[in-house]
Amino acid sequence: MKTQVAIIGAGPAGLMLGQLLTRAGIDNLILERQSADYVLGRIRAGVLEQGTVDLLDEAGAGARMHAEGLPHSGFSLCFDGDELRIDLEALTGRAVMVYGQTEVTRDLMALRQSSGAPTLYGAKDVALHDIDGSPRITFTRDGAPAQLSCDFIAGCDGFHGPSRAAMPPEVLRLFERVYPFGWLGVLVDRPPAAHELVYAHHERGFALCSMRSATRSRYYIQCDTTENLADWSDDRFYDELSRRIPAATAAALQRGPAIEKSIAPLRSFVAEPLRHGRLFLAGDAAHIVPPTGAKGLNLAMHDVRCLYDALAEHYRAGSDAGVEHYSARVLDRIWRTERFSWSLTTLLHSFPGADPFTRRIQRAEFDALVSSPKLQTVLAENYTGLVS
Ligand code: APR
Ligand code: PHB
Repeated sequence: MKTQVAIIGAGPAGLMLGQLLTRAGIDNLILERQSADYVLGRIRAGVLEQGTVDLLDEAGAGARMHAEGLPHSGFSLCFDGDELRIDLEALTGRAVMVYGQTEVTRDLMALRQSSGAPTLYGAKDVALHDIDGSPRITFTRDGAPAQLSCDFIAGCDGFHGPSRAAMPPEVLRLFERVYPFGWLGVLVDRPPAAHELVYAHHERGFALCSMRSATRSRYYIQCDTTENLADWSDDRFYDELSRRIPAATAAALQRGPAIEKSIAPLRSFVAEPLRHGRLFLAGDAAHIVPPTGAKGLNLAMHDVRCLYDALAEHYRAGSDAGVEHYSARVLDRIWRTERFSWSLTTLLHSFPGADPFTRRIQRAEFDALVSSPKLQTVLAENYTGLVS
């Protein structure tokens, strides 16, 4: 088999890149280890920056998002019961769109299917070769070996995929922070407890009230990574959530049977560089942010936009300037977004063993936000998505 751009991974990053390339007439093939249903079974965050909304529109994938997504002009930040509304619209002139990543993925999958561009699901043993010269990918499907030659490889295969591991270890630098807690999440078919998202710091741990629609809510509480899901009945979860959020929000909380419940660890991670030879890394293959700032998908979409620009320049103008510049260009935003996600995580979580000084500093940071529209503006600019 042969294609111009081989994409590994059919998550949102791989699918979006595929769609942009297909629309530009650039041949591409996606190799995905799992089935489409498996990919759609993963529940992830659901806040889209304007830049992500624009990219979905540009890709022709925005119709259902505009019909069903919920534009939010603000959110609530709470500290031990005190509440501060961050008025995104007033502070930045921009809003965010609440629309689940699962739905973004579904829309991109449907588009790919109608475009006729090939996706090979169930591709096992994917291995990358000659990324410095004439790249090839070997894999197996239904037990049969196969080979794909290409001009470029886009590694959109998430944190555990083979692409990053195919970079020579001597050129790769990894930066990581693993947080001493996780998030226990519940998805439930009940109207949200509040009209906007509520992020809450509490000495018992962080809590978040989010949503997927007017009738479906997504709630999280900070938990120990060693917690056992089986120990968390729905009632125990709602009891704990209610303790950590403002009383009025707790009073409005509608309990219902969890349709999904899972524990996710929190981690910050960046790989450098994000290109070697003809291999690029994008999305979770390149970086992980803790979910506190809702930046994972948005950052992945920014990578893909830049990667598409670089590849389009190569094929249309015969210039590799964009290819050469890709890594530096995306790393600039990645690090600024890592900083934001880390700082919001640090402000809002209860760190095991934290001394009283650390707690007072967290409180002082919240108080500084309350009293300073300038600090609120910086927060809002980061939350709605950095413009430059
Ligand atoms: N071979 C083929 N495909 C693979 C392999 C492999 N060996 N390993 C992983 N994959 C696939 C996964 O099955 C998955 O479908 O790569 C895809 C990667 O998708 P995601 O993990 O969703 O990553 P990405 O597309 O970069 O999306 C980033 O997802 O995790 C969130 O916060 C993150 O919202 C952000 C978004
Ligand atoms: C979610 O709805 O899953 C969500 C929203 C905001 C976040 C993280 C997750 O910061």
